[in-house]
Amino acid sequence: MNIVILSRNAALYSTDSLIRAAQNRGHHVRVIDHLMCDLVIEQNKLQIYYYNEPVDDVDAIIPRIGSSSTTYGAAIIRQFTANKVYSTVRSDALLKARDKLSCLQYLAQKNIDVPKTVIINNQLMIDEMLDHIEGEQKIVKLTSGTHGLGVILTESNQNAESIIEAFQKVRQKSLIQEFVKESDGSDIRLIVVGDKVVATMCRQAKEGEFRSNLHRGGSSFAVTPTENERSVAIKASQLLGLDVAGVDMLRSARGPLILEVNASPGLEGIEGTTGIDVAGKIMQLVERKADANWRKV
Ligand SMILES: Nc1ncnc2c1ncn2[C@@H]1O[C@H](COP(=O)(O)OP(=O)(O)O)[C@@H](O)[C@H]1O
Ligand SMILES: [Mg+2]
Repeated sequence: MNIVILSRNAALYSTDSLIRAAQNRGHHVRVIDHLMCDLVIEQNKLQIYYYNEPVDDVDAIIPRIGSSSTTYGAAIIRQFTANKVYSTVRSDALLKARDKLSCLQYLAQKNIDVPKTVIINNQLMIDEMLDHIEGEQKIVKLTSGTHGLGVILTESNQNAESIIEAFQKVRQKSLIQEFVKESDGSDIRLIVVGDKVVATMCRQAKEGEFRSNLHRGGSSFAVTPTENERSVAIKASQLLGLDVAGVDMLRSARGPLILEVNASPGLEGIEGTTGIDVAGKIMQLVERKADANWRKV
């Protein structure tokens, strides 16, 4: 099979892990930097060029699109899927998942529990809207942040208000959430591939920190999710239309709450923590899906 990995850097752990998994299974694999791709669009003809060479005869793509190139990355995925190439992430799914606000809207409307979230656009109503969330402590976060950057724990409404105002001033979209204190600086990440959870880890924030991201110094260990956690993670990925996803969940007093669903989950933390060959599982999925695609044509 001819597989293309869309990635800015072949040396990144996740990209490298996927390359090795593809090669081990006898596939031809190529890394293409999506930001160096150009597109030509004509009636019934959507061509992708990489350094002016047409990119043809691709069976499947595995996009690893970073948060700084979401929009153009989505356009590249769309061009491939328009040509019936299988993608582990469709462009609309990437766009839905990448924005924390839209992700929460899609999940909540389908009966998935999430931390109660408020979006404040009317500056005159900050105080009143903050009262929709109980408790003195609240979480304020950027809708497009990653790695825990732009996630702030506020101690009072006054404190929250000044942060919201500062974000508005620099034209950054933010949301306010109930602080799920009982999760105690830990969350679980479930990796969904196809219709299965293939690996799960618990991440624990370092001392004095509430964000459990490994990039923020958190530590991790393998865990077995409950049946309910598994089914919520699979349902969330399917609702967003993601065949591969990293679902972040808080274990709250009222059950699992989804924080976000990552469309390009990093593989280093999860493979290192659990010892599971997630890249290999992704490759098995690609084989099944791209093959089914092929037979349909
Ligand atoms: N509402 C919340 N209550 C408690 N902890 C939270 C809440 N939101 C985020 N966190 C903590 O902060 C971390 C980062 O938040 P997240 O929304 O996943 O942003 P990012 O995309 O930057 O990872 C989470 O993994 C979790 O540990
Ligand atoms: Mg996260």
